[in-house]
Amino acid sequence: MKTIIELIEEQVMQAFEKAGYEKSYGKVNISNRPDLCEYQCNGAMSAAKAYHKAPFMIADDVVAGLTGNIMFEKIESVKPGFINIILNSAFLAGYVDSMKNSEKFGLAAPDKVKKIVVDYGGPNVAKPLHVGHLRAAIIGESIKRIARYVGHDVIGDVHLGDWGLQIGLIITELSIRKPDLPYFDDDFTGEYPSEAPFDMSELEEIYPYASAYSKEHPEYLAKAQEATAVLQSGHRGYHALWQHIIDVSVADIKKNYDRLNVSFELWKKESDAQCYIPDMVQKMKDEGHAYISDGALVVDVKEETDTKEIPPCIILKSNGATNYETTDLATIIERVKLFNAEKMIYVVDKRQGLHFDQVFRCARKTGLVNDDTELIFVGFGTMNGKDGKPFKTRDGGVLRLETLINEISDKVYERIMENRQMPEEEAREVSEKVGLSALKYGDLSNQASKDYIFDVDRFTSFEGNTGPYILYSIVRIKSVLQKYIAAGGDITKELKIQAPQNKSESNVMLCLVKYHDCIMQAYKDNAPHRICQYLYELSDAFNSFYHDNKILSCEDEARKESMIALLILVKDVLENCIDLLGFSAPDRM
Ligand code: ARG
Repeated sequence: MKTIIELIEEQVMQAFEKAGYEKSYGKVNISNRPDLCEYQCNGAMSAAKAYHKAPFMIADDVVAGLTGNIMFEKIESVKPGFINIILNSAFLAGYVDSMKNSEKFGLAAPDKVKKIVVDYGGPNVAKPLHVGHLRAAIIGESIKRIARYVGHDVIGDVHLGDWGLQIGLIITELSIRKPDLPYFDDDFTGEYPSEAPFDMSELEEIYPYASAYSKEHPEYLAKAQEATAVLQSGHRGYHALWQHIIDVSVADIKKNYDRLNVSFELWKKESDAQCYIPDMVQKMKDEGHAYISDGALVVDVKEETDTKEIPPCIILKSNGATNYETTDLATIIERVKLFNAEKMIYVVDKRQGLHFDQVFRCARKTGLVNDDTELIFVGFGTMNGKDGKPFKTRDGGVLRLETLINEISDKVYERIMENRQMPEEEAREVSEKVGLSALKYGDLSNQASKDYIFDVDRFTSFEGNTGPYILYSIVRIKSVLQKYIAAGGDITKELKIQAPQNKSESNVMLCLVKYHDCIMQAYKDNAPHRICQYLYELSDAFNSFYHDNKILSCEDEARKESMIALLILVKDVLENCIDLLGFSAPDRM
């Protein structure tokens, strides 16, 4: 269905045309002076120049053509030339009522369904998931859900880091600790054991140890680099070990993502793209894009309009090895080939911005993608502690994601138990849900590119702009509905939403009709924070309405039904929005 702005615009545009002006001047916006009006059109101001006329004269002409229009309670021309609009309340209620009866609340389907890949995991096997991976998971999951909800064909790819030095380090360390393993015996021709020679906790200890050791000992580092190269050239034993590392890590990574309510359609790995590299390199050479510079094979990607230095994209290092850029370029080829991807969205730490600049430019320049394929980098900022520095554990180590989630969930549990009676099991379940909302909303309510301060106390508060506050609003509606049903009310029958009777009620409706624009904007800008803003506004509007109106004790049956219908719609919209952010509400809290 058309958005409310489109409907208003239609009328205003027609009026411009009827009065002899170009209809495109009839653009309408939500008013930035809600004390004066609900919507406004400033087109007469711009038309004034073109028609050499005072803007208020144009506004007067347009408004004259709209008086008596049933859509408007009031439409007036205000000097110097604004058109201020207040909607007719029955029209507003009618629109809200039709949202309630339409699929996706009337959100229009896209003109063309796009094939989109969202790359938003990026964990590295053999390393535990830590808070650095949190933002990619939370933001990416939401961006994926929004794009899918809008109607596109979207897949999320975890894009595991499985092909780098970290594997060589582990292989090297294992060869020292457990030299008798068959993987290190070049004469071994039998079947390798199906059981991994380590578990996750061992792996977690080995990696940081080997990594730190290699920084102090160049010969150890050289061995690890050699082991990486040997693995990449297809060594049978190393390959089998590598597979074990992936299996053990992936099980652990999945467990963490599950708890975050994050899931991927695709568990592709950096190594999966390697097979596309030889042809890619050949093509770049043949077509004259790649050339040798200081022994390395590079593609220039700088452009005349650059204000900062953009170094060439290195395709092969001077020792012939591939690197992070090469893998990302090959992955683009893979995504086009396997999925016909028309849009690829990368949700990665913003410090990788230059890398993606180079990769995207190189991909375009060398024709890996069509001109209209969208390559989008959504770079996110750092999650800081209260001291303004990157979030760490108390002893300064890297914080495991699991630990952080537990901390939040425990905090919520405390808050719940402070003032309520709830069976232990339910309290734990509720804490997990509310905790997730605190964590995700705390992150998503900030613009992704900005750094933010992780503050457990603030995030878990039931008041203010927080996840728990949004859930609390939903739970409050659920409880009103339960009471309504308990008193004999039937919410399965068609309940009609009537014209609002007061300001707080019309505010709820005015907020509901913004839904479509909010979702579309969040989609276009890859900006879940817009949905958070909307949730907060709608929750506030609902809470004022709830405060100002007697709902269950209302004696006018039709009015009571109308208010109940409005509450149901608010609840449905809120629940739909939190689902787009990747969390859900309990029945009580
Ligand atoms: N594994 C990488 C890291 O830890 C992130 C991967 C992001 N995605 C990509 N296509 N490069 O930094």
